[in-house]
Amino acid sequence: MLPSAWHTPRLSVRDATAADLGLCHACLADSQDAAPLDPAFKLVPPAEIQEHITRSTGEAALPSRAFQTQVLRLTSSEDAVGYWHFMAVPKRPEAIGVSIMLIRPAYRRQGLGRELVEGALGRFEPSKTELWARVYLGNPRAIEFWAGLGLARLVRLHDTYVSTPAEQPSIILSRCLPDRDGSCRDRNA
Ligand SMILES: CC(C)(COP(=O)(O)OP(=O)(O)OC[C@H]1O[C@@H](n2cnc3c(N)ncnc32)[C@H](O)[C@@H]1OP(=O)(O)O)[C@@H](O)C(=O)NCCC(=O)NCCS
Repeated sequence: MLPSAWHTPRLSVRDATAADLGLCHACLADSQDAAPLDPAFKLVPPAEIQEHITRSTGEAALPSRAFQTQVLRLTSSEDAVGYWHFMAVPKRPEAIGVSIMLIRPAYRRQGLGRELVEGALGRFEPSKTELWARVYLGNPRAIEFWAGLGLARLVRLHDTYVSTPAEQPSIILSRCLPDRDGSCRDRNA
């Protein structure tokens, strides 16, 4: 997983705590443009987000943490820009999967999402060699976003992490995670 607090030039990234529940729910509420494109963005009751935060904080001290939720803020103003969470892939221990990636509408198309992911790539624990993201085919901006970040390998056509209605097909894309020198950690990739 990632360090519990880190930053990029414009973003301060920290593990979510119980105090961030309202903020995360507000981010989800004002990003409902994404809900028809991707069922992961359906507006859920705060209790469901609370479950994610509780799981993330509960696992923080585990030697092999399987789930992490982080809140994204502007370093300049502390404004909340969004949040993301990711998880271990049980059948693929070397992979880390992004399960939610959310930038609030007012902060999109400013390169912040790209800056976040590029900043994270080299910070995942060394045992992880692949980054996976599930993308709905009806969400073209997400496809462009992840493909532009080098997730160019098709892992599979469907996945069972979120139940997918038949009319909302999704794919899992992946890329290798870089070493310090920028080459793939997995030399066979
Ligand atoms: C997808 C999302 C995370 C992108 O975040 P962002 O900070 O706006 O993205 P960036 O500004 O860093 O854009 C990086 C690249 O992604 C692509 N991209 C981002 N938004 C796009 C859009 N609306 N249409 C087409 N391409 C887009 C572009 O290639 C862009 O590069 P460019 O600006 O040089 O053309 C954001 O739009 C979002 O949170 N959407 C709602 C939730 C969602 O769909 N998440 C993805 C689920 S897998």
